[in-house]
Amino acid sequence: MFCKVFSFLKRPRIEESAGEKTETETDFKYLPKSKKSKKLKEIFSAIPKFETERLVLRRIEDKDCADMFEYSADSDVTKYLLWQPHATLDETKKHIAELQKRYDSGRFYDWGMEYKKDGSFVGTCGFTSVDIGKNECEVGYVLSKRYWGMGLMHEALERIMDFAFGYLGFEKVEARFLDGNARSKKVMEKAGMIHEKTENKGIYAKDGYKTVYTYSITKEAFEKRRV
Ligand SMILES: CC(C)(COP(=O)(O)OP(=O)(O)OC[C@H]1O[C@@H](n2cnc3c(N)ncnc32)[C@H](O)[C@@H]1OP(=O)(O)O)[C@@H](O)C(=O)NCCC(=O)NCCS
Repeated sequence: MFCKVFSFLKRPRIEESAGEKTETETDFKYLPKSKKSKKLKEIFSAIPKFETERLVLRRIEDKDCADMFEYSADSDVTKYLLWQPHATLDETKKHIAELQKRYDSGRFYDWGMEYKKDGSFVGTCGFTSVDIGKNECEVGYVLSKRYWGMGLMHEALERIMDFAFGYLGFEKVEARFLDGNARSKKVMEKAGMIHEKTENKGIYAKDGYKTVYTYSITKEAFEKRRV
């Protein structure tokens, strides 16, 4: 009887994951808050691999260095980001080495995006922060300019939001963009996010204070879009 009542707690493992999770593992979303932090580290230290129609979402690896450098050195790509363009390939190499350490600690939540058609590493998409207490996360993303305007980020974001709401059971996903980043605003709107707040001169980025727009979507709204 006990098993029967609680059988809903047992769900299949993270689909498409390359990790070693077992079929009977309890979903993250059903864990008590006290256990979530440890579990989140476990999940992300072997970040699950996902596939969408045109992309493989996976751990960022050393072999991605040249492709990552190509877009990270592009000032059009970094224009509305907080970091400066990379100056050398070595800078990107060091950055990836740093990311490996962060993956290993289970505190890095970004997926690398591999474009299936040509095998290129085209960008990243993931959680810039996770708030276990509030059951929320913020997403962030960057894509190589060569692949802009193809709806690729939308495709990646939908998969990651599905993981955030579905597997992790988050109640809200947020995203922010700096004033002028119309492309990013469109990506958020296409994902069903709505404007939540505007912070005038809310952040210092590169050469001055910038206005920051926060968009978000609740789990309820996300699930309604899927019906
Ligand atoms: C923001 C970004 C991820 C968008 O990715 P993408 O895969 O090209 O997104 P999409 O293909 O869905 O295109 C976004 C939308 O912007 C539209 N767009 C293209 N050029 C535009 C412009 N100059 N102004 C406004 N919208 C524009 C596209 O038409 C598309 O809308 P649609 O689907 O309604 O036609 C990508 O441009 C990028 O990586 N930019 C640099 C990094 C960055 O700013 N990251 C976000 C930080 S908040």
